Amino acid sequence: TGLVTLDNGFGNTAANKSAITFIDGDAGILRYRGYPIEQLAGEANFIETAYLLINGELPNEGQLAAFSNEITQHTLLHEDVKRFFQGFPRDAHPMAMLSSVVGALSTFYPESHNPFDEAQRHLSTVRLLAKLPTIAAYAYKKAMGQPFVYPRNDLGYVENFLRMTFAVPAEDYELNPVVVNALDKLLILHADHEQNCSTSTVRLVGSSHANLFASISAGISALWGPLHGGANQAVLEMLEQIQQDGGDVDAFIRKVKNREDGVKLMGFGHRVYKAFDPRAAQVKVLAHEVLAQLGKSDALLDIALKLEEHALKDDFFVSRKLYPNVDFYTGLIYRAMGFPTSMFTVLFALGRLPGWIAHWHEMIKDPTSRIGRPRQIYTGVEIRDYVPLSAR
Ligand code: CMC
Repeated sequence: TGLVTLDNGFGNTAANKSAITFIDGDAGILRYRGYPIEQLAGEANFIETAYLLINGELPNEGQLAAFSNEITQHTLLHEDVKRFFQGFPRDAHPMAMLSSVVGALSTFYPESHNPFDEAQRHLSTVRLLAKLPTIAAYAYKKAMGQPFVYPRNDLGYVENFLRMTFAVPAEDYELNPVVVNALDKLLILHADHEQNCSTSTVRLVGSSHANLFASISAGISALWGPLHGGANQAVLEMLEQIQQDGGDVDAFIRKVKNREDGVKLMGFGHRVYKAFDPRAAQVKVLAHEVLAQLGKSDALLDIALKLEEHALKDDFFVSRKLYPNVDFYTGLIYRAMGFPTSMFTVLFALGRLPGWIAHWHEMIKDPTSRIGRPRQIYTGVEIRDYVPLSAR
């Protein structure tokens, strides 16, 4: 079995090779398939970015139209899938509904269970991209106690999702282009991030040759945690708490530094970025733009700005190279758009989906990939004799 080395949290162990996303954490660089994230967020749309991540190249006009059209054909959920939502409690967290329903999709498509069937791989990919926004919108409707809104095939990906989420029948729902463009940009900024916790989960589950729906369901569960995608919800809750406590950011920073109740500055720090998170830089600008364009002001934005400013002057954070990450400002934008806090991580999942899918494909197609099976350093009792129950 050879020498086993301990690498807690995989800080320095590569689990695989990958040609999808490049990160230079010291320089704050993020590129999908070689394209800088700033260019994609500025000029591409989300479906184009999904195509790029999954297929390796940007689509031409015909390819993009065909891909979008194919996705549009699969946005409906089977009526039986819709009934899943009746079974959840009204206050069910939408991330729990998302992972459960995505896992359940595999029961509707048993032909997808063989990951080596290329045509099925493609179909599962299209189905997931098409149906996740519908599932996400239904999770919101469930919580709101409103009727589900069916997808509309004449709308774009983001437009369709927003309408399914916010339209209340009998009202004419008007799409706001500011919200559409900002959400599209945010989805692009979240679309991939190489071997993060949820993507590694998707790869690990998929490495046993589990189907794509099962693998993605596991990825959604991994994303939910507050150290990962759940941080966007945790940041907003932290800002609200600071506001409730009188808005004293320095008192909160002291709490973090004293490690009171294990409290952390949520939305700060990253395993790989040690200078800045290039996504956070984009998101901060976007937060100002969106709030201004929507004519909204938010006292929580002022708290966030102050928190960032004070933390970046404090040696505790500077010496540990802790900077705002992608989750620090996104929640403020989602809130301005009208999403409740519990939906924030769902929006992260919608964005990350193409990345998860791209990694699953890359792994399945790689003839050198093996089942993921970490080793351990055993620290338990070496050996002892069984003691009968009556003698214990
Ligand atoms: N607040 C206070 N202290 C922190 C923070 C923070 N947000 N992040 C790290 N530290 C401290 C940590 O306690 C440790 O201190 P010491 O060396 O004295 O023990 C030092 O900084 C190094 O941190 P680490 O825990 O070894 O870092 P990691 O690479 O294992 O964890 C992280 C990375 C992102 C999980 C962590 O920074 C964190 O918990 N941040 C808050 C949650 C968060 O914002 N997560 C979103 C991550 S980015 C996008 C995503 O994945 O969703």
